[in-house]
This record gives sequence, structure tokens and C-alpha cells, in this order.
Amino acid sequence: MNILVINGPNLNLLGIREPEIYGRGTYDELCALIRREAEALGAEPEFFQSNHEGALVDAIQSAYGRMDGIILNPGAYTHTSVALLDAVKAVGVPTVEVHLSDPDTREPFRRISYVRAACVATVKGRGFQGYLDALRLLCRGGFSRGR
Ligand code: DQA
Repeated sequence: MNILVINGPNLNLLGIREPEIYGRGTYDELCALIRREAEALGAEPEFFQSNHEGALVDAIQSAYGRMDGIILNPGAYTHTSVALLDAVKAVGVPTVEVHLSDPDTREPFRRISYVRAACVATVKGRGFQGYLDALRLLCRGGFSRGR
């Protein structure tokens, strides 16, 4: 299983950024945690983080024909980006939406997720553990490609 782990804007600042919401663990620590779990599951993770919407679209497109799953935390683009929704639909790679916090219990503008409609599952409010849950879900499989 080749799994692409994509993190959107400001997630490179994990550990510094609003630790009361996102925790004290850093982006590098998150990647190391996922790498360890992937090893145990026999999966091969690849990591990508960007603050730029177009770069995130490019990363999703790069998964086509190459990756078996995507773990996607689009950050604030969750709530604004039709382009990310379209990219996930376009490549047809099973994608799990992940959020460290639970956006549905925060400000009203965080309640909309465009990308959710194209995802096979959403994991939210579980901190770093949510990425591991997503990894396990994808490794368990049973998701059809293409939609
Ligand atoms: C987030 C939630 C979003 O609302 C926010 O803009 C983020 C992080 C999360 O992981 O909880 O950047 O995706």
C-alpha cells in the first residue's frame, strides 16, 4: 500500500500553532508517528505539506496511478476549496479526510467541508491518532477506485 499523506496550510507549524487546539507535537513528529505505524502495517507512506492550494491540487493529481490511498488534511482549504474536491474526484484514489480538531464543533464557517463529498471517510477530533486511524482504514481496504 502506497499512501500519500497531504497536509495543507499552517500544518507545518504544528507544535507552535494554537497548541490548545492542535496539540504540542510538531509536523516532523507527526510524520515519524505515521511512518512507524505504516511500517507495522506494511504500508509505504509519502509526505507532502504545502500552504498553497495549487500545490495541494498538484500533489493529489500526482497520486493518480501511483498511490493506493490518500490521507488528506486540507487545513483551512477544507472550507473553501472546490479545486481540492475536484482533484480528489478526478484521480479516484480512495481518500480519507482528517482533521486534528473537530471543525464541526468550532466556528460555523468550519462546518462546511467541500472535500468531504469525495472522501471515503472523515476522521476528526482525534489529534495525531486520527492520521493513524485513517491509515488503518485505508490499509483495511475495500474501497473502489474511481467514481
Ligand atoms: C484543521 C481544521 C481547519 O478548520 C483548520 O483551518 C486547520 C486545521 C484540523 O486539522 O483540525 O487548519 O484542518
